Formats: sequence, structure tokens, C-alpha cells
Amino acid sequence: MKVLITAGPTKEPIDPVRYLTNRSSGKMGYALAAAAAKRGHSVLLISGPTALEIPEGVDYMPIESASEMYQAVASQIGRHELAIFAAAVADYTPFKIAEQKLKKADEEMTITLKRTKDILGSAREVMGFEGTLVGFAAETEDHLENAREKCLKKGCDLIITNDVSRSDIGFDSSENEVTLVYPDHSETLPQDSKEHLAFHLIEIIEEL
Ligand code: CTP
Repeated sequence: MKVLITAGPTKEPIDPVRYLTNRSSGKMGYALAAAAAKRGHSVLLISGPTALEIPEGVDYMPIESASEMYQAVASQIGRHELAIFAAAVADYTPFKIAEQKLKKADEEMTITLKRTKDILGSAREVMGFEGTLVGFAAETEDHLENAREKCLKKGCDLIITNDVSRSDIGFDSSENEVTLVYPDHSETLPQDSKEHLAFHLIEIIEEL
């Protein structure tokens, strides 16, 4: 199968030397890319900046900002049968990027942000993707209900959700415990290393 995977954080520039980002390490997305490649799939990994090595046998497209990730996905998704969105994409980005480094002045400062485009939410209706669509949801409360709502709203076949309020799993950790949320049911998998979990998830997604 031809598989597109997004991974890692995005970096939203404020001025030439500063940016907004998040705690995503990219581990889950990279583990999924490595597992899919090992299982014989052709994998394109579109990733924000991480400290990880590019998995063997995987095509790699580096991006920085949410809008670069949107463009990369929009230009590539039509060539793929399966898309897995594991990236932690910024929901907001600075309204404008200062051309020069911002100087300190008052005691307080405000940066105005604007919404970024929802890449996963655009896959079906805007990009016309008809393949299998898998999203992630990082929640701190009501995670099953929120994920089910996202699954239906964004036309996903599956949302993989984890509770990011727990410090032992998820963001920036090597282990994860996820719940698979389908349009009509859900199932929690036992806590495991992201590498083992990635293999198991790819096997489950192949069945979809
Ligand atoms: N996502 C995306 N583009 C964005 C934001 C998120 O493609 N601009 C994708 C992520 O890769 C993930 C899924 O959407 O697969 C869920 O992201 P999450 O931040 O948990 O949820 P949101 O849809 O942004 O909703 P909210 O912030 O309200 O929880």
C-alpha cells in the first residue's frame, strides 16, 4: 500500500529568531513509518522538526510550519491509499511574522494568533481523499467522546486517542496507551512501547 504519514510538531515563526511550537517528539509517527515500511508498504513521511533519525526505506519530506505541512499533504495525498495524521499541528499561528527581530519594550506584550487550516479536516472534502483516513487525538479530558466527535466530523475511519494529561505515556514519552475510536465503537489497547504499538497499529489499520 502507498502510505502517507504526518509526524512531529510544527514551528510557527514569530520573527526571524523566534517561534511557537509544542512538546511532540515525533516518536509515534516515526515508529508508525518504520513499522509500515518493515511490513512492505511504500511510505512517505511528512514531518516537522524532530531529533529522530529518518526510518530506513521511508521517503521523507521535511516541513516546518502548519501551512507548509498543509501544502505538502495537499500535493501528495492523492497518490496514497492510506493517510495517518500523527503530527501535532499548531492550531494557531502568529497573525503576521515580524520582518525584524522584535525588540523588548513594555512589561507586557501580546502576540495575535490566527487559526491554521485543519489538515486532517480538509483531507476528505477539500483534498478529495478517498482512501483510509486515520487521525490522532490528544485529549486531556472526555477523551472518548471528543475523539468520536472528531472521527465523525473529519470523515475518519479511525481516531487513535491518548490521554495527554498522563505524564507516563503519550507526548514526549517512549510508551503509549491508546484507545481506538471507530465511528461506531471503541477499544483500548494495553500500554506498550511506541515501537511495539506501531506494529500492532499498522496490522490493525491494514484490516481497515
Ligand atoms: N490536525 C491537522 N491539522 C491541524 C490540527 C490537527 O491535521 N491544523 C490533526 C492532527 O494531526 C491529529 C488530529 O488532527 O491527527 C487531531 O488533532 P487535535 O489537536 O487533537 O484536535 P483538533 O482537531 O485540533 O481539535 P481540538 O484542538 O479542539 O481538540
